[in-house]
Amino acid sequence: MIRIGIYGATGYTGFELINLLQRHPQAQLVFATARSAAGKTLADVFPTTLDVPLISAEEADPAATDVVFCCLPHGTTVPTVQQALEAGTRVIDLSADFRLRRAEEYARWYGNPHPAPELLAEAIYGLPECYRAAIRAARLVANPGCYPTSVILALHPLVRAGLPADQTIIADSKSGVSGAGRSLSLKTHFGEAHENFSAYNIGHSHRHIAEMEQETGLHVIFSPHLLPVFRGILSTIYVTVTPGTDPDIVREAYGIFADEPFVQLLPAGRLPELRHAVHTNRCILGIQPVDVAAGRYIVVAVEDNLIKGASGQAVQNMNLMFGLDETLGLR
Ligand SMILES: NC(=O)c1ccc[n+]([C@@H]2O[C@H](COP(=O)([O-])OP(=O)(O)OC[C@H]3O[C@@H](n4cnc5c(N)ncnc54)[C@H](OP(=O)(O)O)[C@@H]3O)[C@@H](O)[C@H]2O)c1
Repeated sequence: MIRIGIYGATGYTGFELINLLQRHPQAQLVFATARSAAGKTLADVFPTTLDVPLISAEEADPAATDVVFCCLPHGTTVPTVQQALEAGTRVIDLSADFRLRRAEEYARWYGNPHPAPELLAEAIYGLPECYRAAIRAARLVANPGCYPTSVILALHPLVRAGLPADQTIIADSKSGVSGAGRSLSLKTHFGEAHENFSAYNIGHSHRHIAEMEQETGLHVIFSPHLLPVFRGILSTIYVTVTPGTDPDIVREAYGIFADEPFVQLLPAGRLPELRHAVHTNRCILGIQPVDVAAGRYIVVAVEDNLIKGASGQAVQNMNLMFGLDETLGLR
């Protein structure tokens, strides 16, 4: 059994992780921490019958685990990650704190110097479809962001095949409100979000752009939107490949995903929708040629932000790190 600790179990990703691990045959939950709800149980905090005890982070003993998951807000995880690594356990961090390889990029996007730049160099970006071998050996995995998972998986085959002719792409993404976490905010308040649809942080300002650009090497114009649903992301990505590239050649580039258990390209003419992916660990893609002579294509990607975009991907990474079947607990 893999002994597991979870920091931040009272957030949406922490709760999703506990639910996934309940169904995982090799997972043994050693501790789950909370800040405000320490001393209570999960059933006191969420509509669930799971009576998992919640303890404070100070009471948690990472040395008693094989891996810990950090489901804490970005900017807060470094001391927890350092303590866990010093205790000899492995870490999967769901925050953005270790996703950027270069400390200068972190400072540029997050507005302060990274407190542990040596760990940035060590951390492996936890996208199994791109870094499977490195994840297997990693001590510290930086689980990708929810929007970036959809955008990077949509673009990775094209980039790998050297197809983008215009180095600027546009990603127009829509996310359910759980993407913003469980803390109360006016924007995700039922009365504000319900029967509404809004764009935010458009252009080149959302911090997820940093990892999209790091992983694709492209310049990304990114327009996130808030959908009045609880979970799910749909990204519509506008890309220009070498003019005249035949649609079959573009589709063939996605052949690298043929054996991927959690990425699927739909047949020509079909487009993915949220209900194909929510409550699963899958990212589902569709491609639409727009103007073949000009090389214009649209790729649509859908995923569940809390599963493939967060906790499911984290379990996929754990499976790889411990030599298990990558799909264990996720089918
Ligand atoms: N939501 C998503 O779709 C998603 C997807 C991918 C990645 N992520 C990332 O995953 C991490 C967790 O996201 P989430 O949506 O689960 O967040 P969340 O719902 O806001 O939960 C955050 C958790 O961290 C605790 N916490 C808050 N502030 C803290 C602090 N200063 N020090 C220690 N603990 C603190 C909270 O405890 P209390 O309940 O006591 O406040 C809660 O347990 C974030 O870094 C987020 O960016 C989220």
